[in-house]
Amino acid sequence: MPLHLGAAWYPEHWPEARWAEDVKLMRDAGLTVVRVAEFAWSSLEPREGAFDFGWLERAIALAADHGLAVVIGTPTAAPPAWMTQAYPDVLAVNADGRPATHGARCHYDVTSERYLAFCRRIAEKLAICFGRDARVIGWQIDNEYNTVSYSEGARRAFQDWLRRCYGSLDALNAAWATAYWSQTYSDWSQIPLPIQGAHGFGQPHNPGLRLKWRQFITEAYRRFQLNQIEVIRAHAMPSQWITHNFMGFFDGFDHYVLSADLDFASWDQYYPAGHLDFARDSAGHDLTRGFKRKNFWLIETQPGSVNWAPINSAQDRGETRAAAWNAVAHGAEAVCYWQWRNAPNGQEQYHGSLIAPDGNPRPVYEEISRIGREFQQAGHLFDGATVEASVALLHSYDDRWALDFQRHHADFDPLQYLGSFYRPLSRRNIAMDILSTRAALDGYKLVIAAPHILDEAIAGELIRFVAGGGHLVLGVRSGMKDGNNALLRQRQPALLQDIAGAHVEEYYALREPVPIHAVTSGRRKRGATPALPDGSAHIWAEWLVPHPGAQVLMTYGAANGYLNGQAAVTMKPHASGGCVYYLGAWLDDALQDALMGWIVARAGVEPVLPGLPAGVHAMRRGEAYVLINDTEAKSVTLPWRAKDHLSGRTAKRFMLGPWDVIVATRV
Ligand code: GLA
Repeated sequence: MPLHLGAAWYPEHWPEARWAEDVKLMRDAGLTVVRVAEFAWSSLEPREGAFDFGWLERAIALAADHGLAVVIGTPTAAPPAWMTQAYPDVLAVNADGRPATHGARCHYDVTSERYLAFCRRIAEKLAICFGRDARVIGWQIDNEYNTVSYSEGARRAFQDWLRRCYGSLDALNAAWATAYWSQTYSDWSQIPLPIQGAHGFGQPHNPGLRLKWRQFITEAYRRFQLNQIEVIRAHAMPSQWITHNFMGFFDGFDHYVLSADLDFASWDQYYPAGHLDFARDSAGHDLTRGFKRKNFWLIETQPGSVNWAPINSAQDRGETRAAAWNAVAHGAEAVCYWQWRNAPNGQEQYHGSLIAPDGNPRPVYEEISRIGREFQQAGHLFDGATVEASVALLHSYDDRWALDFQRHHADFDPLQYLGSFYRPLSRRNIAMDILSTRAALDGYKLVIAAPHILDEAIAGELIRFVAGGGHLVLGVRSGMKDGNNALLRQRQPALLQDIAGAHVEEYYALREPVPIHAVTSGRRKRGATPALPDGSAHIWAEWLVPHPGAQVLMTYGAANGYLNGQAAVTMKPHASGGCVYYLGAWLDDALQDALMGWIVARAGVEPVLPGLPAGVHAMRRGEAYVLINDTEAKSVTLPWRAKDHLSGRTAKRFMLGPWDVIVATRV
């Protein structure tokens, strides 16, 4: 597959006479793919049952004439006005019981059978028309699934789904401990939707109900997506793939479940503040690559600025190019900009684009054209290659939801917590995979996990991993809940106590930081290791009780009396050569950085390239090393002579200007 460069093109926004200037400029910029038709339902089916694909056919022909492949987005994120007027039951209902008004997008009820039937029909018509058209390389289902509907239909569907999950009300009542606050249900129809806060009546709903509601939304979107996939697959030739554009770490549904039915995952990456942050942005790529454990499309990203941030600042000169190469370095098979040209009116007039309303390039067009030239020059290096990481960070939507429902400390953001592990490794240019807590862990040297919801399958894989010689970092709040979001009957980390060599005596949400002291090798019973610094815990601290065979690496200083002097971080070496590091506290950034540096060294994890100056981000994909600089110019010396495929230079030492990129292979 070539490395694609593309843009979202909405020909329906402009008179047909102007399309030719669009595609000519696309070709000149080196674009190889356009995305069309998403949101175009009112143009594709102007009246119920009256389809007009002629304009799309002509747009596709024009694109193909200019060497552009086409991806068709099904238009179902934007139901047309004739439909919402005639069939208001297709509209989503908000938590107050008010139906959505027409005029924006994503206003559909994902559980509406009528809506699904309309979606199936338009997707099928499109597939019949374009499914055997070689100019069309793939399909995108809908756009950024996100809306939750609290309609009566959704409630009935939820109740039916619960019946299928639990089989009996007795089982559900037991799993949710519904005797608590007299919630016991004697009929499925009594089960409410979890609505609280501003829209409800103050008290949150049962944690079991809330978790199941999120899982139900996942199932509803899975069904919604499959409904279209089925008809597309029935008519499309096998070479046409199907994807969906996810939104990075958005947690509205379980992305692992939805990705299962796609050929590959795609995502939409935006920089609302206008600037790159290598750790944050790379984590989004690693997450998306982890949805199916394969390369992905960066199917939308911003040319310049967005229009929805508090301050929509644009990327600096060079930053757009750096961001594109960072995506490729992390496994993107395509980088597509949103959008090609702004519509003359509509909600996104201010959004960045390549072409201004006058039909002429904006300044960022030249930078994107450079990317186009570079993809043509160096794209072959990435063909069939992906990222190989020796570290896996485990991630779970169930865990994130359960923790978010009951943060216990307002600042306990599960994503920030994940980031506290990702950042120190990213800074060291260590390649990582972000995977489901249910992933197989063969081949990794180091796994970082904090499985809040723990069952035998998750624990079993971690135990197997350590027994095979793997190093495991276990984080706070591990092993606390079961799959119903109920408390486990064992002390944390429950089924992982044996491999961790410790259990949690008590947990504390911290109003103030608590000092942490590294146990020096003299004071520690066994094993001399380089000294770890002192520091502090914030937000969360667990009093760890070490079991025989475990070593205490860090203890709490003066705190609340209970924590004083107790173990904060322990380590349990295993006969297999594996080791479990139990981090019972959310450590301050400097201490976390030092400890993670110490652990990766013990685990034998190597950076992509050694000795790079701070601020140079490096990734390896196949034989190619992609090095991206931040804003300060610096020189980089590689361990060997290399060819930079962008400049054509061969050297060992390279000068990198602000946001500079080199794509190097060893010579
Ligand atoms: C999302 C949508 C696009 C567009 C962009 C704007 O990612 O998928 O249609 O609205 O945001 O940033």
